[in-house]
Amino acid sequence: MSPPAAPAPAPAPAAAFDPETWRAQFPILRTEMHGRPLVYLDSAASTQKPRRVIDRLKSFYERDYANIHRGVYELSQRASALHDEARRKVQRFLGARDWREIVFVRNATEGINLVAWSFLRPKLEPGDEILVTEMEHHANIVPWQIVAGERGARVVAAPITDAGEIDLDALAERITGRTRMLAVAWVSNVLGTVNPVEEIVALARREGVPVLIDAAQAVQHRPVDVAALGCDFLVFSGHKTYGPSGVGVLYGRGELLDAMPPWQGGGDMIEKVSFAGTSFNEIPFRFEAGTPDIAGIVALGEALDFLEELDLARVERHEAALLAGAERALARIPGLRILGAPKERRSALAFTLEGAHPQDIGMLLDLEGIAIRTGHHCAMPLHARFGLSASARMSVGVYTNEADIDALTAGLRRIAAMFQ
Ligand code: ALA
Repeated sequence: MSPPAAPAPAPAPAAAFDPETWRAQFPILRTEMHGRPLVYLDSAASTQKPRRVIDRLKSFYERDYANIHRGVYELSQRASALHDEARRKVQRFLGARDWREIVFVRNATEGINLVAWSFLRPKLEPGDEILVTEMEHHANIVPWQIVAGERGARVVAAPITDAGEIDLDALAERITGRTRMLAVAWVSNVLGTVNPVEEIVALARREGVPVLIDAAQAVQHRPVDVAALGCDFLVFSGHKTYGPSGVGVLYGRGELLDAMPPWQGGGDMIEKVSFAGTSFNEIPFRFEAGTPDIAGIVALGEALDFLEELDLARVERHEAALLAGAERALARIPGLRILGAPKERRSALAFTLEGAHPQDIGMLLDLEGIAIRTGHHCAMPLHARFGLSASARMSVGVYTNEADIDALTAGLRRIAAMFQ
Protein backbone atom coordinates (compact mmCIF):
# COMPACT_ATOMS: atom_id res chain seq x y z
CA MET A 1 0.00 0.00 0.00
CA SER A 2 1.37 3.47 -0.89
CA PRO A 3 0.83 6.47 1.33
CA PRO A 4 -1.65 8.99 -0.08
CA ALA A 5 0.06 12.00 -1.68
CA ALA A 6 -1.53 14.87 0.27
CA PRO A 7 -0.14 15.96 3.66
CA ALA A 8 -2.24 14.98 6.67
CA PRO A 9 -4.71 17.68 7.72
CA ALA A 10 -3.42 19.83 10.59
CA PRO A 11 -4.81 19.07 14.05
CA ALA A 12 -6.89 21.75 15.75
CA PRO A 13 -4.76 24.30 17.63
CA ALA A 14 -5.02 24.39 21.43
CA ALA A 15 -7.34 27.04 22.76
CA ALA A 16 -5.40 28.51 25.66
CA PHE A 17 -1.77 29.02 26.66
CA ASP A 18 -1.11 27.23 29.91
CA PRO A 19 2.24 25.50 30.45
CA GLU A 20 0.95 23.80 33.60
CA THR A 21 -1.72 22.09 31.50
CA TRP A 22 1.01 20.83 29.16
CA ARG A 23 2.96 19.60 32.18
CA ALA A 24 -0.02 17.75 33.60
CA GLN A 25 -0.01 15.57 30.47
CA PHE A 26 3.27 13.88 31.51
CA PRO A 27 2.53 11.14 34.08
CA ILE A 28 6.19 10.54 34.97
CA LEU A 29 6.48 14.08 36.30
CA ARG A 30 4.25 13.05 39.18
CA THR A 31 6.72 10.40 40.38
CA GLU A 32 9.25 10.81 43.19
CA MET A 33 12.98 10.17 43.26
CA HIS A 34 14.66 9.52 46.63
CA GLY A 35 11.40 10.64 48.25
CA ARG A 36 11.45 14.00 46.46
CA PRO A 37 9.31 15.17 43.52
CA LEU A 38 11.10 14.52 40.23
CA VAL A 39 12.67 17.64 38.71
CA TYR A 40 13.47 16.52 35.19
CA LEU A 41 16.09 18.72 33.54
CA ASP A 42 17.55 16.25 31.04
CA SER A 43 15.21 16.68 28.07
CA ALA A 44 18.15 17.22 25.70
CA ALA A 45 19.12 13.60 26.36
CA SER A 46 15.54 12.39 25.97
CA THR A 47 12.18 14.01 26.52
CA GLN A 48 9.48 12.47 28.69
CA LYS A 49 6.31 11.26 26.97
CA PRO A 50 2.84 12.76 27.20
CA ARG A 51 -0.08 10.50 28.14
CA ARG A 52 -1.46 10.52 24.60
CA VAL A 53 1.79 9.13 23.13
CA ILE A 54 1.88 6.36 25.76
CA ASP A 55 -1.82 5.63 25.11
CA ARG A 56 -1.27 5.56 21.36
CA LEU A 57 1.48 2.97 21.67
CA LYS A 58 -0.77 0.82 23.86
CA SER A 59 -3.90 1.21 21.74
CA PHE A 60 -1.95 0.52 18.54
CA TYR A 61 -0.74 -2.80 19.94
CA GLU A 62 -4.17 -3.60 21.36
CA ARG A 63 -6.29 -2.72 18.31
CA ASP A 64 -4.32 -1.98 15.17
CA TYR A 65 -1.13 -4.03 15.10
CA ALA A 66 0.01 -6.16 12.17
CA ASN A 67 2.94 -6.00 9.81
CA ILE A 68 2.69 -3.29 7.15
CA HIS A 69 2.79 -3.21 3.33
CA ARG A 70 2.66 -7.02 3.26
CA GLY A 71 -0.88 -8.15 4.06
CA VAL A 72 -4.11 -8.00 2.06
CA TYR A 73 -6.14 -8.55 5.23
CA GLU A 74 -7.98 -5.75 7.02
CA LEU A 75 -5.69 -5.49 10.05
CA SER A 76 -2.53 -5.15 7.97
CA GLN A 77 -4.24 -2.57 5.77
CA ARG A 78 -5.21 -0.59 8.86
CA ALA A 79 -1.71 -0.73 10.37
CA SER A 80 -0.23 0.27 6.99
CA ALA A 81 -2.59 3.24 6.69
CA LEU A 82 -1.70 4.45 10.21
CA HIS A 83 2.03 4.08 9.52
CA ASP A 84 1.70 5.93 6.22
CA GLU A 85 -0.34 8.65 7.87
CA ALA A 86 2.51 9.16 10.37
CA ARG A 87 4.85 9.79 7.45
CA ARG A 88 2.51 12.51 6.18
CA LYS A 89 2.45 14.02 9.66
CA VAL A 90 6.26 14.20 9.62
CA GLN A 91 6.10 15.73 6.13
CA ARG A 92 3.77 18.44 7.37
CA PHE A 93 5.75 18.97 10.60
CA LEU A 94 8.97 19.58 8.64
CA GLY A 95 7.36 21.47 5.76
CA ALA A 96 8.69 18.95 3.20
CA ARG A 97 7.22 19.14 -0.29
CA ASP A 98 6.73 15.40 -0.70
CA TRP A 99 6.16 12.44 1.63
CA ARG A 100 8.80 10.55 -0.36
CA GLU A 101 11.41 12.87 1.15
CA ILE A 102 10.77 11.43 4.63
CA VAL A 103 12.78 8.32 5.54
CA PHE A 104 12.15 6.52 8.83
CA VAL A 105 15.33 5.51 10.65
CA ARG A 106 16.13 4.59 14.27
CA ASN A 107 17.33 8.02 15.35
CA ALA A 108 19.19 11.13 14.15
CA THR A 109 22.46 9.21 14.39
CA GLU A 110 21.25 6.58 11.94
CA GLY A 111 20.04 9.29 9.56
CA ILE A 112 23.53 10.82 9.46
CA ASN A 113 25.09 7.40 8.95
CA LEU A 114 22.70 6.75 6.07
CA VAL A 115 23.75 9.98 4.34
CA ALA A 116 27.44 9.28 5.02
CA TRP A 117 27.28 5.78 3.54
CA SER A 118 24.78 6.15 0.73
CA PHE A 119 25.13 9.75 -0.42
CA LEU A 120 28.71 10.69 0.37
CA ARG A 121 30.86 7.56 0.38
CA PRO A 122 30.44 6.69 -3.31
CA LYS A 123 31.54 10.23 -4.27
CA LEU A 124 34.51 10.61 -1.89
CA GLU A 125 38.02 10.66 -3.27
CA PRO A 126 41.40 10.95 -1.56
CA GLY A 127 41.98 14.51 -0.37
CA ASP A 128 38.27 15.37 -0.20
CA GLU A 129 36.96 17.16 2.86
CA ILE A 130 33.84 17.05 5.02
CA LEU A 131 33.30 20.28 6.93
CA VAL A 132 31.75 20.21 10.40
CA THR A 133 32.12 22.55 13.40
CA GLU A 134 33.81 22.25 16.77
CA MET A 135 30.43 22.16 18.51
CA GLU A 136 29.10 18.99 16.86
CA HIS A 137 27.74 15.97 18.70
CA HIS A 138 29.83 12.85 18.04
CA ALA A 139 26.98 11.62 15.81
CA ASN A 140 27.81 14.44 13.41
CA ILE A 141 31.57 13.77 13.47
CA VAL A 142 32.24 10.05 13.68
CA PRO A 143 30.10 8.75 10.75
CA TRP A 144 31.94 11.22 8.48
CA GLN A 145 35.31 10.17 9.92
CA ILE A 146 34.54 6.51 9.19
CA VAL A 147 33.73 7.02 5.51
CA ALA A 148 36.51 9.61 5.15
CA GLY A 149 39.03 7.17 6.64
CA GLU A 150 38.09 4.53 4.09
CA ARG A 151 38.48 6.89 1.16
CA GLY A 152 41.55 8.89 2.16
CA ALA A 153 39.38 11.96 2.78
CA ARG A 154 39.31 14.00 6.00
CA VAL A 155 36.97 15.77 8.37
CA VAL A 156 37.70 19.48 8.87
CA ALA A 157 36.27 21.38 11.87
CA ALA A 158 35.36 25.06 11.66
CA PRO A 159 36.17 26.88 14.90
CA ILE A 160 33.72 28.34 17.37
CA THR A 161 34.17 31.53 19.39
CA ASP A 162 34.50 31.86 23.17
CA ALA A 163 30.82 32.80 23.17
CA GLY A 164 30.11 29.34 21.76
CA GLU A 165 29.02 30.52 18.32
CA ILE A 166 30.21 29.39 14.92
CA ASP A 167 32.75 31.81 13.46
CA LEU A 168 31.00 32.26 10.11
CA ASP A 169 33.99 33.87 8.36
CA ALA A 170 36.20 30.99 9.43
CA LEU A 171 33.53 28.53 8.28
CA ALA A 172 33.37 30.22 4.86
CA GLU A 173 37.19 30.14 4.58
CA ARG A 174 37.20 26.41 5.20
CA ILE A 175 34.95 25.70 2.23
CA THR A 176 37.41 24.72 -0.51
CA GLY A 177 37.26 23.03 -3.89
CA ARG A 178 37.63 19.74 -1.97
CA THR A 179 34.64 20.21 0.36
CA ARG A 180 32.07 17.51 -0.43
CA MET A 181 29.70 18.02 2.50
CA LEU A 182 28.89 20.54 5.21
CA ALA A 183 27.21 19.08 8.32
CA VAL A 184 26.16 21.31 11.19
CA ALA A 185 23.96 21.26 14.27
CA TRP A 186 21.02 23.66 14.32
CA VAL A 187 21.16 23.86 18.12
CA SER A 188 24.19 22.72 20.14
CA ASN A 189 23.31 19.89 22.53
CA VAL A 190 25.78 21.32 25.08
CA LEU A 191 25.78 25.11 24.78
CA GLY A 192 22.26 25.50 23.45
CA THR A 193 23.60 27.86 20.77
CA VAL A 194 21.11 28.42 17.95
CA ASN A 195 23.19 28.43 14.81
CA PRO A 196 22.21 30.67 11.87
CA VAL A 197 21.34 27.73 9.65
CA GLU A 198 19.62 29.94 7.06
CA GLU A 199 22.93 31.77 6.46
CA ILE A 200 24.93 28.56 6.59
CA VAL A 201 22.67 26.81 4.06
CA ALA A 202 22.81 29.86 1.75
CA LEU A 203 26.62 29.87 2.00
CA ALA A 204 26.85 26.14 1.24
CA ARG A 205 24.48 26.45 -1.70
CA ARG A 206 26.46 29.37 -3.19
CA GLU A 207 29.55 27.15 -3.05
CA GLY A 208 27.69 24.13 -4.43
CA VAL A 209 28.31 22.08 -1.24
CA PRO A 210 25.53 19.76 0.01
CA VAL A 211 24.45 20.55 3.55
CA LEU A 212 23.05 18.37 6.34
CA ILE A 213 21.39 19.92 9.39
CA ASP A 214 21.46 17.96 12.64
CA ALA A 215 18.15 19.15 14.08
CA ALA A 216 18.08 16.71 17.01
CA GLN A 217 17.97 19.64 19.46
CA ALA A 218 15.96 22.00 17.27
CA VAL A 219 12.69 20.64 15.91
CA GLN A 220 11.10 20.20 19.38
CA HIS A 221 12.01 23.76 20.38
CA ARG A 222 11.13 25.91 17.36
CA PRO A 223 9.18 25.81 14.11
CA VAL A 224 10.91 24.27 11.09
CA ASP A 225 10.32 24.52 7.34
CA VAL A 226 12.82 22.50 5.34
CA ALA A 227 11.52 23.68 1.98
CA ALA A 228 12.09 27.33 2.96
CA LEU A 229 15.43 26.50 4.60
CA GLY A 230 16.67 24.78 1.45
CA CYS A 231 18.91 22.25 3.20
CA ASP A 232 19.70 18.99 1.43
CA PHE A 233 19.32 16.75 4.46
CA LEU A 234 17.98 17.15 7.99
CA VAL A 235 17.73 14.61 10.80
CA PHE A 236 15.94 14.37 14.12
CA SER A 237 15.16 11.77 16.78
CA GLY A 238 11.69 10.74 17.93
CA HIS A 239 12.75 10.21 21.54
CA LYS A 240 13.84 13.85 21.92
CA THR A 241 10.58 15.01 20.33
CA TYR A 242 8.14 13.54 22.91
CA GLY A 243 7.89 10.33 20.88
CA PRO A 244 9.20 6.81 21.54
CA SER A 245 12.86 5.81 21.41
CA GLY A 246 13.95 3.76 18.42
CA VAL A 247 12.38 5.99 15.77
CA GLY A 248 13.99 8.87 13.92
CA VAL A 249 13.65 10.79 10.69
CA LEU A 250 15.89 11.62 7.77
CA TYR A 251 14.59 14.33 5.47
CA GLY A 252 16.37 14.42 2.11
CA ARG A 253 15.69 16.46 -1.01
CA GLY A 254 13.82 14.17 -3.39
CA GLU A 255 16.25 14.39 -6.30
CA LEU A 256 19.20 13.54 -4.03
CA LEU A 257 17.48 10.60 -2.32
CA ASP A 258 16.31 9.34 -5.70
CA ALA A 259 19.90 9.11 -6.95
CA MET A 260 21.23 7.39 -3.80
CA PRO A 261 21.89 3.64 -3.64
CA PRO A 262 20.41 1.55 -0.80
CA TRP A 263 22.56 1.23 2.29
CA GLN A 264 20.96 -1.83 3.89
CA GLY A 265 19.38 -4.75 2.06
CA GLY A 266 16.30 -6.71 3.09
CA GLY A 267 12.55 -6.86 2.79
CA ASP A 268 10.44 -3.92 1.55
CA MET A 269 13.42 -2.09 -0.01
CA ILE A 270 13.39 -4.25 -3.16
CA GLU A 271 11.45 -4.24 -6.41
CA LYS A 272 12.48 -7.67 -7.73
CA VAL A 273 14.88 -10.24 -6.30
CA SER A 274 16.53 -13.18 -8.03
CA PHE A 275 19.92 -14.83 -7.73
CA ALA A 276 20.84 -13.13 -10.97
CA GLY A 277 20.41 -9.78 -9.28
CA THR A 278 18.05 -7.45 -7.45
CA SER A 279 16.39 -4.19 -8.37
CA PHE A 280 15.40 -1.71 -5.70
CA ASN A 281 12.23 -0.02 -4.57
CA GLU A 282 11.46 3.67 -4.92
CA ILE A 283 12.24 6.23 -2.25
CA PRO A 284 11.73 6.30 0.67
CA PHE A 285 11.20 2.52 0.88
CA ARG A 286 14.63 1.85 -0.70
CA PHE A 287 16.17 3.02 2.59
CA GLU A 288 13.81 1.18 4.92
CA ALA A 289 14.92 -2.47 4.88
CA GLY A 290 13.05 -4.84 7.18
CA THR A 291 10.04 -4.39 9.45
CA PRO A 292 10.28 -0.97 11.09
CA ASP A 293 9.17 0.08 14.57
CA ILE A 294 5.59 0.38 13.34
CA ALA A 295 4.01 1.31 16.68
CA GLY A 296 6.85 3.72 17.40
CA ILE A 297 6.30 5.48 14.07
CA VAL A 298 2.55 5.79 14.72
CA ALA A 299 3.25 7.15 18.22
CA LEU A 300 5.80 9.60 16.79
CA GLY A 301 2.97 10.95 14.62
CA GLU A 302 0.95 11.41 17.82
CA ALA A 303 3.88 13.27 19.45
CA LEU A 304 4.11 15.63 16.46
CA ASP A 305 0.34 16.28 16.68
CA PHE A 306 0.91 17.15 20.35
CA LEU A 307 3.67 19.62 19.46
CA GLU A 308 1.62 21.18 16.69
CA GLU A 309 -1.30 21.65 19.03
CA LEU A 310 0.97 23.34 21.58
CA ASP A 311 2.22 25.55 18.72
CA LEU A 312 6.00 25.55 18.40
CA ALA A 313 6.30 29.33 18.23
CA ARG A 314 4.63 29.45 21.64
CA VAL A 315 6.77 26.60 22.98
CA GLU A 316 9.85 28.48 21.80
CA ARG A 317 8.91 31.67 23.65
CA HIS A 318 8.12 29.74 26.82
CA GLU A 319 11.35 27.71 26.82
CA ALA A 320 13.58 30.64 25.80
CA ALA A 321 12.26 32.69 28.74
CA LEU A 322 12.88 29.77 31.14
CA LEU A 323 16.43 29.27 29.88
CA ALA A 324 17.20 32.98 30.14
CA GLY A 325 15.90 32.94 33.73
CA ALA A 326 18.01 29.86 34.51
CA GLU A 327 21.08 31.54 33.04
CA ARG A 328 20.57 34.63 35.24
CA ALA A 329 19.97 32.55 38.38
CA LEU A 330 22.90 30.17 37.84
CA ALA A 331 25.31 32.98 36.96
CA ARG A 332 24.84 34.38 40.49
CA ILE A 333 26.07 31.16 42.16
CA PRO A 334 29.66 31.59 43.44
CA GLY A 335 32.17 29.56 41.38
CA LEU A 336 29.66 28.59 38.69
CA ARG A 337 30.82 29.09 35.10
CA ILE A 338 28.35 28.86 32.24
CA LEU A 339 29.83 27.57 28.98
CA GLY A 340 29.47 30.08 26.17
CA ALA A 341 27.28 33.14 25.92
CA PRO A 342 25.49 32.77 22.59
CA LYS A 343 23.04 35.43 21.41
CA GLU A 344 20.30 32.83 21.22
CA ARG A 345 20.10 29.76 23.44
CA ARG A 346 17.55 26.94 23.30
CA SER A 347 17.28 23.49 24.81
CA ALA A 348 20.40 23.30 26.99
CA LEU A 349 22.81 25.17 29.20
CA ALA A 350 26.09 23.66 30.41
CA PHE A 351 28.16 24.75 33.37
CA THR A 352 30.97 23.86 35.73
CA LEU A 353 31.26 24.56 39.45
CA GLU A 354 34.63 25.37 40.96
CA GLY A 355 35.96 22.53 43.09
CA ALA A 356 33.15 20.10 42.22
CA HIS A 357 33.45 17.37 39.61
CA PRO A 358 30.40 17.34 37.28
CA GLN A 359 29.78 13.71 38.25
CA ASP A 360 29.51 14.73 41.92
CA ILE A 361 27.15 17.58 41.03
CA GLY A 362 24.92 15.12 39.16
CA MET A 363 24.89 12.60 42.01
CA LEU A 364 24.19 15.18 44.72
CA LEU A 365 21.38 16.74 42.69
CA ASP A 366 19.93 13.29 42.09
CA LEU A 367 19.58 12.83 45.87
CA GLU A 368 17.26 15.85 45.74
CA GLY A 369 15.25 14.34 42.88
CA ILE A 370 16.89 16.59 40.25
CA ALA A 371 17.95 14.91 37.00
CA ILE A 372 20.61 16.60 34.86
CA ARG A 373 23.26 15.19 32.54
CA THR A 374 26.95 15.21 33.42
CA GLY A 375 30.02 14.22 31.42
CA HIS A 376 31.04 15.15 27.89
CA HIS A 377 27.49 14.96 26.47
CA CYS A 378 28.85 13.16 23.36
CA ALA A 379 30.78 16.32 22.48
CA MET A 380 34.42 15.77 23.49
CA PRO A 381 35.90 18.18 20.91
CA LEU A 382 33.59 20.94 22.15
CA HIS A 383 34.70 20.36 25.75
CA ALA A 384 38.35 20.33 24.63
CA ARG A 385 37.73 23.70 22.95
CA PHE A 386 36.70 25.08 26.36
CA GLY A 387 39.64 23.39 28.12
CA LEU A 388 37.39 20.85 29.86
CA SER A 389 36.80 17.12 29.82
CA ALA A 390 33.30 17.31 31.30
CA SER A 391 30.53 19.66 32.40
CA ALA A 392 27.09 19.55 33.95
CA ARG A 393 24.10 20.31 31.72
CA MET A 394 20.52 21.28 32.43
CA SER A 395 18.03 21.22 29.60
CA VAL A 396 14.37 22.11 29.19
CA GLY A 397 11.24 20.74 27.59
CA VAL A 398 7.66 21.93 27.23
CA TYR A 399 6.91 20.76 30.80
CA THR A 400 9.77 22.62 32.49
CA ASN A 401 8.57 25.31 34.88
CA GLU A 402 10.06 27.95 37.13
CA ALA A 403 9.82 25.67 40.16
CA ASP A 404 12.22 23.27 38.37
CA ILE A 405 14.71 26.09 37.80
CA ASP A 406 14.35 27.24 41.42
CA ALA A 407 14.98 23.70 42.69
CA LEU A 408 18.12 23.41 40.53
CA THR A 409 19.39 26.80 41.64
CA ALA A 410 18.85 26.01 45.33
CA GLY A 411 20.50 22.58 44.92
CA LEU A 412 23.52 24.08 43.17
CA ARG A 413 23.87 26.76 45.84
CA ARG A 414 24.05 24.04 48.50
CA ILE A 415 26.63 22.10 46.48
CA ALA A 416 28.69 25.24 45.87
CA ALA A 417 28.77 25.87 49.62
CA MET A 418 29.95 22.28 50.23
CA PHE A 419 32.83 22.42 47.77
CA GLN A 420 34.18 25.93 48.30
N1 ALA B 1 22.38 13.42 22.35
C1 ALA B 1 21.83 13.30 23.65
C2 ALA B 1 22.38 14.34 24.62
O1 ALA B 1 22.89 15.34 24.21
C3 ALA B 1 21.87 11.92 24.19
O2 ALA B 1 22.30 14.12 25.80
